Amino acid sequence: MKDSVYFNNKVIVVTGASSGIGLASARHFGKCGAKVVMAARRLETLLELAPSVGPEENVLCVKCDVSSEADCKALIEAAVARFGGIDILVNNAGLSMRAMFKDLDLKVIHSLMDVNFWGTVNCTKYALPYLLERKGQVAGVISIAGYSALPARTGYSASKYAIRGFLDTIRIEHLKDGLNVLVFAPGYTSSNVRNAALTADGSAQGETPLDEDKLMSAEECAAHLAKALRKRRSECILTGLGKATVLAHRLFPRLTDKLTYSFIAKEANSPFK
Ligand SMILES: NC(=O)c1ccc[n+]([C@@H]2O[C@H](COP(=O)([O-])OP(=O)(O)OC[C@H]3O[C@@H](n4cnc5c(N)ncnc54)[C@H](OP(=O)(O)O)[C@@H]3O)[C@@H](O)[C@H]2O)c1
Repeated sequence: MKDSVYFNNKVIVVTGASSGIGLASARHFGKCGAKVVMAARRLETLLELAPSVGPEENVLCVKCDVSSEADCKALIEAAVARFGGIDILVNNAGLSMRAMFKDLDLKVIHSLMDVNFWGTVNCTKYALPYLLERKGQVAGVISIAGYSALPARTGYSASKYAIRGFLDTIRIEHLKDGLNVLVFAPGYTSSNVRNAALTADGSAQGETPLDEDKLMSAEECAAHLAKALRKRRSECILTGLGKATVLAHRLFPRLTDKLTYSFIAKEANSPFK
């Protein structure tokens, strides 16, 4: 079955739809005829982007800070009020960081857990009854850092491991209810995530240490997400490097620590220097 058949008329809520992977996913679902609920903090940006996602009758933009339980409840209520139910929730909104733990203001880890982990928990909690009604799907966009830790990203790795534990548990709780739970782990993908990443004092990094043009595009990442949802997969790990890292971490954890150290030491402005 093609995406355009599978997603046609499905109601899909995407958090973090104002940029990067979330925006590319919203556009992919919109092209397939889905009814797309775009959520993010920047409502003006969402409203500007909405026409690139689909016709007015198929797109709803909702201002939502996923770290706020009340905002997430209101998001789900708005989606149901407008489209009558929810088939798929994509917990994509996320925030990264880059600083050694020894230098870190702990508010950075609180922020990352609030957005990445609690954002996923909040939205899933309120969407779950509607997803169960339709034997739908919940996805969490984690990261390779949710399988194999990345230095200078303590809060990021911890939040992504936590999302994986949370979603893997929800999957078992609803094994007999027809709910599909997808843990989706992109590798390095071109987006704004590294510019927005928090530094030791909680300010945005404002630059990327990577050559973003050489990374997987957000559009390709979104196409992989759509395929994993269409096939109702429980796990999807992206990029050759990502897959190799997850496998190496399972088989040779101590060697992988050393390789990861060397890899991050070579980054521009490496935190080890
Ligand atoms: N790019 C990569 O290399 C990569 C790799 C693995 C995993 N990921 C994950 O992919 C997801 C999407 O990231 P991206 O790479 O597309 O980054 P991005 O371009 O920075 O997009 C992040 C999105 O999250 C939203 N967001 C941030 N804080 C939020 C909050 N408190 N409430 C609601 N929305 C919030 C942002 O919108 P507003 O600012 O408008 O709120 C934006 O739409 C994240 O979970 C990230 O960890 C990315």
